[in-house]
Amino acid sequence: MYIYAHRGFSGEYPENTMIAFQRAYELGVDGIELDIQMTKDGELVVIHDECIERTTDGIGHVKDFSFRQLRQLDAGGWFHPRFAGERIPALAEVLDWLSDQKRSIILNIELKNGIIHYDGMEEKLLTLLHSYRSWRHHIVCSSFSIGSLYRIHQIDPHVNKAMLVEGSQCDVLDFAYAINVKEIHGDWNFLVSQKGEEASKKVGICVYTVNDKFLLHELINRDVKAVMTDFPNHMIKE
Ligand code: G3P
Ligand code: CA
Repeated sequence: MYIYAHRGFSGEYPENTMIAFQRAYELGVDGIELDIQMTKDGELVVIHDECIERTTDGIGHVKDFSFRQLRQLDAGGWFHPRFAGERIPALAEVLDWLSDQKRSIILNIELKNGIIHYDGMEEKLLTLLHSYRSWRHHIVCSSFSIGSLYRIHQIDPHVNKAMLVEGSQCDVLDFAYAINVKEIHGDWNFLVSQKGEEASKKVGICVYTVNDKFLLHELINRDVKAVMTDFPNHMIKE
């Protein structure tokens, strides 16, 4: 079972920042999960929320700022003063950094487009990915939005896609299989549901967000491809 660092090594570093990704990589994780939103001027940026106030010293929506404006913000001080000066990364910065590393790991890019619709986000993402060499094997694009996954599939049917689901009530799985999702990313409730059991026979199942070692041991006995955790340091040792 693979260990993915959820929003990077977000248990001990400010989520979705370069230091959180670098420290996760240094720990030896199998993969990193991150979230993307889009700026006013069309840059794909790595931040979980549609609004910036929880994880930066700014106020407002990502969509209302240019990338240049967002880069002025402090994305680390909210977590601990010693991380003041961390910036919101552009997705391109993360891809550049990863392509310079010796060890190839999985990068799970979650398109955060369920609440705000970012026109052209999928096209931007795929254009960016196509500018890198040999990205296909180690990048998985995920979303809670089946429409967004469908759009990705229309642009490039060979991109690795993952449907995000929460809980046992989900009625989009058949559609997800029809567009050849490689994985379903679900929570514990999905995993133990009938739909979760059926899904595990068809595609890889990744479980978020597992920060409890006892839960991890439960998962080891199940057919789970990867777990996403804020504390990869604890999970790798298990
Ligand atoms: O990819 C699974 C997980 O990251 C989804 O939840 O809110 O942490 O993005 P969230
Ligand atoms: Ca996420």
